[in-house]
Amino acid sequence: MYFRDMARPVFHSLPVVEIKKETNDCVSVAFSIPAELKEAYQYQPGQYLTLRATIDGQDIRRSYSLCSAPAEELCRVAIKKVDGGVFSTWANEALTVGTPLQVMTPMGSFCPTVDASNKKHYLLVGAGSGVTPLISIAKTVLADEPNSEVTMILGNRHFQSIIFRDELEDLKDIYLGRFRIFHVLSGEPNEISLLHGRIDADKLKGFMETFLAHSPLDSVFLCGPQVMTESARDYFYSIGMSEEQVHLELFGTALPQGAPRKKEVVLDANDLCEVSVIYDGQQTDFKMSKGAMVLDEAQKAGLDIPYSCKGGMCCTCRAKVVEGNAEMVVNYALEPGEVDAGYVLTCQAHPVSSKLIVDFDQ
Ligand SMILES: Cc1cc2nc3c(=O)[nH]c(=O)nc-3n(C[C@H](O)[C@H](O)[C@H](O)COP(=O)(O)OP(=O)(O)OC[C@H]3O[C@@H](n4cnc5c(N)ncnc54)[C@H](O)[C@@H]3O)c2cc1C
Ligand code: FES
Repeated sequence: MYFRDMARPVFHSLPVVEIKKETNDCVSVAFSIPAELKEAYQYQPGQYLTLRATIDGQDIRRSYSLCSAPAEELCRVAIKKVDGGVFSTWANEALTVGTPLQVMTPMGSFCPTVDASNKKHYLLVGAGSGVTPLISIAKTVLADEPNSEVTMILGNRHFQSIIFRDELEDLKDIYLGRFRIFHVLSGEPNEISLLHGRIDADKLKGFMETFLAHSPLDSVFLCGPQVMTESARDYFYSIGMSEEQVHLELFGTALPQGAPRKKEVVLDANDLCEVSVIYDGQQTDFKMSKGAMVLDEAQKAGLDIPYSCKGGMCCTCRAKVVEGNAEMVVNYALEPGEVDAGYVLTCQAHPVSSKLIVDFDQ
């Protein structure tokens, strides 16, 4: 398993050096990293950047997976326009080259452990913009593990909506016999029924029995919307793959951002907890209702804690509980080992003890 970088995430202002139209509704945005920040922005394939901008007077933060490989000169993310989406519409329609953007140092654990001596078969499954971390993983594994093979299954509506279509074709030519890609298109008929429709457990079973029967899988990476990734994950568990082998990255849940959390936390507003937050070497103490979320209350107490999705999908707000107990309403981002070690997503965590100490510096 990839070990999450423990360095505290920080924003730096980086100029946008290139904006490329990848499809009708997706741009890739590249940053060049100044020499003094190169170390801070070193990343693993599969990690993401959190971008921050003031849009219509609002401070907006969103996470975007790196589609570049660590070996490439520029750091690049791809942003697909979501209908009515604040940040993605702004990035596709208003962002220009030269604009400085607040960019948080890379985060995330949706990463393979790349090793030149590996001889593995990786399956990468994504839909729409879910291709972004997958292409970074594919480029890195194919270049750095000469004995490994990569199969990618990508879901899109139409051929024209496939992000990085040409780059993926080029990879096929460069790594003949080690990289295969299958496009599953929902909006275009295909005489091979597996290549038409949406990716779900049945479709993956079909792939496993036909195109993938020759070579057992070692690792599976799933990225995209909740319904697709969760049904795919459950399918791979059902055929005997383990939590260590199946990795999942969610780009969005069925819930709109900022909507009430999935599980109602009904607690007496007068049931208070004494909380201490350790952040950047400083301790801040406050009292909060056990029904509230630690991140929200820490922000009310004046702390500029890092966060992005506030939906339990990224891990930007992660901290370690060092005393007391907190429970998460949802967790789509922390690995089981991290939860066992006491880490929580503070945007989803509410105290269940009368005293709680959380440490953002660990
Ligand atoms: C770890 C992580 C990595 C991500 N990487 C990428 C990436 O590489 N490329 C990319 O384009 N996006 C990526 N996302 C999603 C991205 O962070 C934003 O959520 C997305 O761009 C929408 O933001 P917005 O401000 O435009 O929409 P908002 O204003 O937040 O939302 C507007 C509406 O769109 C819906 N919505 C939000 N997100 C999505 C979505 N992804 N698909 C469909 N509907 C949605 C909301 O429910 C809401 O109704 C990633 C998310 C996470 C957590
Ligand atoms: S801010 Fe994304 S999980 Fe908490």
